[in-house]
Amino acid sequence: MLVSKQDLKKLMKDKLHKAGLNELHADGVADVLLHADLRGVHSHGAMRVEYYAERIAKGGINVDPEFTFKQTGPSTAVFDGDNGAGHVAAKEAMDEAIKMAKENGIATVGVRRISHSGSLSYFVQQAAKENMIGISVCQSDPMVVPFGGAEPYYGTNPIAFAAPGEDGEHITFDMATTVQAWGKILHARSKNEAIPEGWAVDENGENTTDPFDVKALLPIAGPKGYGLMMMVDILSGVLLGLPFGNKTSSMYHDLSEGRNLGQLHIVINPEYFTNLKEFKQNITKTMNDLNSIKPAKGFDHVSYPGQRSAEREKKQEANGIEIVDDIYEYLASDVVHNNAYDDKDPFAK
Ligand code: NAI
Repeated sequence: MLVSKQDLKKLMKDKLHKAGLNELHADGVADVLLHADLRGVHSHGAMRVEYYAERIAKGGINVDPEFTFKQTGPSTAVFDGDNGAGHVAAKEAMDEAIKMAKENGIATVGVRRISHSGSLSYFVQQAAKENMIGISVCQSDPMVVPFGGAEPYYGTNPIAFAAPGEDGEHITFDMATTVQAWGKILHARSKNEAIPEGWAVDENGENTTDPFDVKALLPIAGPKGYGLMMMVDILSGVLLGLPFGNKTSSMYHDLSEGRNLGQLHIVINPEYFTNLKEFKQNITKTMNDLNSIKPAKGFDHVSYPGQRSAEREKKQEANGIEIVDDIYEYLASDVVHNNAYDDKDPFAK
């Protein structure tokens, strides 16, 4: 079903508020979720509201957090999210990183003790909108087999990057270090669709195409993706003194507990390295160069990273956002949550 962005944001905000989040934080979370749905990243949009609502209602997201920000050096800081809404804490921490990078050329801000923060492109685009390069990485619950392993250790540990071009366009690269994000499995389940071979394994560590049989996800490019997810876990977990590896909290285990997750933002101010105008021109040139590469057989053109999402965003802003009917019905109903997520095996049917 097609829903306008204003209606979708209001429905999500109202539901989160009804679950117990204050209006400001409900608005902040809804904004990040809307960003994901607008860009076609439905795995991190409206379909997550019911889970968040249940966690909020059960106390696992602090509805009255005391955020603290402590600068620890000229270009380093630690933001403590007090296990409040991760989307809001990560956004505020990025605002602080941008301010520091404006003054010092670069900023690294560790975001400690947060709940799930959603689609990371939101945060790196905050930096790009301020003419900076944004990089963000975060921990996620352990559900990925390390290369050669038969049990999960790391999370889907995403990496996001954005750089500003001319006329408000950005290059935005944002990926899970798994072949697919866990949310894509949930999305396939919500639509009752098979998943492609190579995304995930079943209880025997063998490839499966049934989203309901998934027992662990696979890293991208074997040992290389496995190495990247290790890097993300060290930067956003070990570095910030948080639980790491398979001790990272699970999304579905005990919804009354804070998740204590970590995220790391790095902001680079191009003005400290080169001429900003030229930098933005060259980012635009990069986009145009990539678009003019001769397409391989089976492709009609080459897109730059984030291009298809940006195009979807423009289209859906104008025409409405495609939302699965069941999710819309839940959002429009009076139900806060259906007690569907607590203490579940993350791979439970
Ligand atoms: P994806 O596989 O849909 O896209 C990955 C990247 O590849 C994007 O930058 C996209 O623009 C680019 N891309 C895709 N197709 C392309 C094409 N044909 N040409 C050029 N570029 C192309 O993303 P993925 O890995 O499924 O992640 C989805 C979201 O999940 C992300 O927003 C990520 O931040 C989020 N996530 C969040 C987690 C959390 O714990 N907060 C955990 C894991 C993922």
